[in-house]
Amino acid sequence: MRTVELSDTNVFVSCLGLGTLRFGTLNSYAESAELLDMYLEAGGRFLDTANCYNQWAANAKGGESEVVLGQWLRERGNRDELFIASKVGFGYGTVPDGLAAKTIISACEESLRRLGTDHIDLYYAHKDDPNTPLEETLSAFTQLKESGKIRFAGASNYLAWRLADADAIAAQKGLAEFTCIEQRFTYLRPQPGSYFFPQRLIDENLATYCDARGKTMLPYTPLLRGAYVRTDRPIAQAYQGPDTDARMAALKEVSQAVGATPNQVVLAWMMQRQPPLIPIFSAGQPAHMQENLGALDITLIDDQMTKLTMAGHCPNEEPN
Ligand SMILES: NC(=O)c1ccc[n+]([C@@H]2O[C@H](COP(=O)([O-])OP(=O)(O)OC[C@H]3O[C@@H](n4cnc5c(N)ncnc54)[C@H](OP(=O)(O)O)[C@@H]3O)[C@@H](O)[C@H]2O)c1
Repeated sequence: MRTVELSDTNVFVSCLGLGTLRFGTLNSYAESAELLDMYLEAGGRFLDTANCYNQWAANAKGGESEVVLGQWLRERGNRDELFIASKVGFGYGTVPDGLAAKTIISACEESLRRLGTDHIDLYYAHKDDPNTPLEETLSAFTQLKESGKIRFAGASNYLAWRLADADAIAAQKGLAEFTCIEQRFTYLRPQPGSYFFPQRLIDENLATYCDARGKTMLPYTPLLRGAYVRTDRPIAQAYQGPDTDARMAALKEVSQAVGATPNQVVLAWMMQRQPPLIPIFSAGQPAHMQENLGALDITLIDDQMTKLTMAGHCPNEEPN
């Protein structure tokens, strides 16, 4: 699998990251290990988890995904080959919600224990916490970095102005900065008024800020949970608007032209953006994993990239 530089760190990571939210809850250990092995076999080395995954599943407590990863890493003996991202910030069980320093420090210890490792490569603030000063949050990440327990801090679910504030504080106080950002993003555009809170989107403000500052953006839910192709999961209303038909038509046309599926084209479109996005996808069954990994074999020519990107944009009709 190709690698891309994570922001301007001089560290190169897989161009396609595997989300593991469902492992240990929606997928058994055996199913999860099979899917992880397929990703590894394709050259993938970037795993995305969180301390609370998957507390939202029925009968789950949180922590299951990290436990599965820990067991798999131990069995395969491949920890050193992998780049592992985890997160803190959602309350679950006895872990408080938010990004107070002591929550971050103790949650990191718990994640290290479940993962069976002495460091996490990328440790995200999972969602913004307006009630804790950014300086306190960044100081905790700095402490973890200085002690070698994490290599990089990242942000997830932040608005652009909050990320800019965090960057200013990090620069002023000599603290660890949020190296990169993981947000919700797909090919279809959410319609005005769509509400995803506490999830935050990659939007124009964030994208232009991150591009200017050399921060890599990592889109989650890139495949809209299969909705591009699945009749059992129709496209959510939040993604249905005046440009939806044009975007779906462009996706279909490009997919046919390159002999690929719409899911593959969505992932390829993100990976081929300049600077590249690193999609964090998931799959709960081998056929879907195989299809999604097939995105790595697709090359979109410039015209196709432009067609996809521009589909559904309204021309400016103001008179000169
Ligand atoms: N930072 C955050 O706040 C945040 C939020 C959400 C997610 N994430 C991360 O992002 C990862 C991915 O999120 P996601 O699961 O929402 O993303 P996704 O890849 O858009 O959706 C995965 C879902 O789509 C279906 N699917 C995948 N490939 C398919 C295919 N080729 N054909 C048909 N259906 C397909 C899967 O169904 P099957 O089970 O049937 O395969 C699965 O239910 C998570 O695991 C997590 O690591 C982060």
